Amino acid sequence: MWRARFARMTPDPRAVTRALVRWFKRAQRDLPWRRTRDPYAIWVSEIMLQQTRVEAVVPHYERFLARFPSVHALADAHADDVLHAWSGLGYYRRARQLHAAAALVVREHAGTLPADEPALRALPGIGRYTAGAIRSIAFGEPAPIVDGNVARVLSRVYALRGAHGEARREKRLWELATALVPARDPSAFNQGLMELGATVCVPRAPRCDTCPLAALCVAHARGREEAFPPPKPRAAPARVAQWAIVRVRARDGAVLMRRRGKDEVNAGQWEVPLTAPGAGAPRGAQRVGAVRHGILKTAYKVEAFVARANAAPRGSRWIAADERVRLPLTTLTRKLLKLLPGGA
Ligand code: ADE
Repeated sequence: MWRARFARMTPDPRAVTRALVRWFKRAQRDLPWRRTRDPYAIWVSEIMLQQTRVEAVVPHYERFLARFPSVHALADAHADDVLHAWSGLGYYRRARQLHAAAALVVREHAGTLPADEPALRALPGIGRYTAGAIRSIAFGEPAPIVDGNVARVLSRVYALRGAHGEARREKRLWELATALVPARDPSAFNQGLMELGATVCVPRAPRCDTCPLAALCVAHARGREEAFPPPKPRAAPARVAQWAIVRVRARDGAVLMRRRGKDEVNAGQWEVPLTAPGAGAPRGAQRVGAVRHGILKTAYKVEAFVARANAAPRGSRWIAADERVRLPLTTLTRKLLKLLPGGA
């Protein structure tokens, strides 16, 4: 499998594994979940570490385990107590899922976290990454893991093409992680990958002078560490054409506007209403120009027309020139008003 798939990528997997495991055993940070072999405690740590930095997790981890020292204690707890113990970590869905999963482990696995992948992944909150972390760290199984740190390290060592999130790249990363993880010391290897990515092989200005893989790393040999992984290509903005019919009251030049609703972008701001091109142009409307405006990932081109009007339809209001100075207007509407005679 190794030969067939990765023969052209030079670094020898055994050399990578050996250098990384040796380095991890010497250089690892002293973290509380590295002092236990209890699968429940390791599971809790991995759930906390999914979206939260190591430094922020440490105090919460210790408090949570003191409060809920076993799967049974967690399964028996009241949901409010679990959420309370989680407070400060954010992403509370993780706490609800952990609580639900603890109940399942008690009910379906007699209170013992299973070691096989399908059973682990059947538990709420445990995906491919977390299953691999638990299997390797708690059970010593040669299960692969790929997270953001691991992906960066492997991309550089093997000079993998493809940007973050590309399906082909993800597939190759998991294949590579699977091929590399050793039967001996899978825990030290996987944690070594994470640790290297977190402390040495960092996104900007990696510390290659202290890296145990520098001599094996293809990106380093090319002097191109920061080119891997390549930045995600930005999607071209969607182009949307719209019309704005600026209705002006003959008597005083007030402009008809609506206020954006609570659930809309720019909530509470006033704007000239927009329509689909061709919709709602009254007779006598006169084209005065076009404005371009970018909002989020959309590039709007708005053709502006001016029409005389006297009646205000429901939901809109006449806004006089002096009010337009005081009220919060959307940027697009300010651009449109500049097209009016007098630039107001
Ligand atoms: N991030 C995710 N799992 C981790 C672990 N076990 N040690 C350090 N950082 C991690």
